[in-house]
Amino acid sequence: MITNLKNRDFISVMDFSKEELETIFDVAFDLKRRNAIGESHSHLLKGKSLGMLFASPSTRTRISFETGITQLGGHGQYYTPEQLQLKNKESWRDTAEMVNRFLNGFAIRLYNLKTQMGAETYEYGDAREVLRAIAKDADIPVINMLDDKEHPCQIMADIMTMMEKFGREDYKKKKIVMSWAYDERAKSAGVPQTMIAAGMTLGMNIVLAYPKEPGVYDVDPEYVKVAQDAAKVSGGALTIEHDIWKAAKDADVIYAKSWARNPDQHAASGPKYAKDWCISHEHFKVANTQAKYMHCLPAKRGKEVTDELIDDPNISIVNDEAENRIHVQKAIMALTMRG
Ligand code: CP
Repeated sequence: MITNLKNRDFISVMDFSKEELETIFDVAFDLKRRNAIGESHSHLLKGKSLGMLFASPSTRTRISFETGITQLGGHGQYYTPEQLQLKNKESWRDTAEMVNRFLNGFAIRLYNLKTQMGAETYEYGDAREVLRAIAKDADIPVINMLDDKEHPCQIMADIMTMMEKFGREDYKKKKIVMSWAYDERAKSAGVPQTMIAAGMTLGMNIVLAYPKEPGVYDVDPEYVKVAQDAAKVSGGALTIEHDIWKAAKDADVIYAKSWARNPDQHAASGPKYAKDWCISHEHFKVANTQAKYMHCLPAKRGKEVTDELIDDPNISIVNDEAENRIHVQKAIMALTMRG
């Protein structure tokens, strides 16, 4: 167990070794256990402040971070770019200097500088560059609450949930299908990208499933390369499948959400996959008997998943998955923001 993650940024799962990720899970399980028996742990970050900058709406991330820092004895501050001088074009560098002087940790949700920050241009990776620049300019830990490449806190909660359902080691033997699902909106591929990077570091067995439309639904090749290289070390396995029915066969988890790297092509080609890739009980007929359905939420009911499936208490574990956001994020905060 690696115990010293003090002052580390949590921007990408690729910055963390297998042992470091497992340390975060260990602490998350411990904090969840303590919470379950009402054992206070408010001394851990007593008097510390976490700034939370959200450039887009959030239910789970905001509530879990804000409640989490409170349970650790600290205080969470919520702001949008419009509420800070970022609205008046104060630079990220000057903003970083201020958060460094006032805060003990800074969490950011930012993924499109054009639509969210009024920038003249935006290219994939620009939001990640902002997070990296703030982390360089500020000494306090910077936590990624969703950027244009990854959703690392989400994936940590997802994997923690798989550990709970299948066993702390046995989850690695299970067939985890990380699947595309249809929605009109072209969302980021951050969830699948983070899942394959973290999953292969940990030694999981993941099938990445999406329709074959080159340049539209395939994920960032950097993540595929990192995942494949990590799999060689960890013993994990990453398979890419373009037929959802083949992917679903013998699956232990079907985790399906929409994403698209090219919004225009997605608008043209997405609808033809809508029926087959809307996850339903039909997909679970070919999956393993105890298979589970996962989604990071919010889910587009009737598009990404049927109402009947997401509400099926025997199959859907989406709310357990959401709850684990708080436990894993408390672990990240406690480890990185400690005195
Ligand atoms: N999964 C997730 O990040 O949810 P929110 O957008 O509600 O925070």
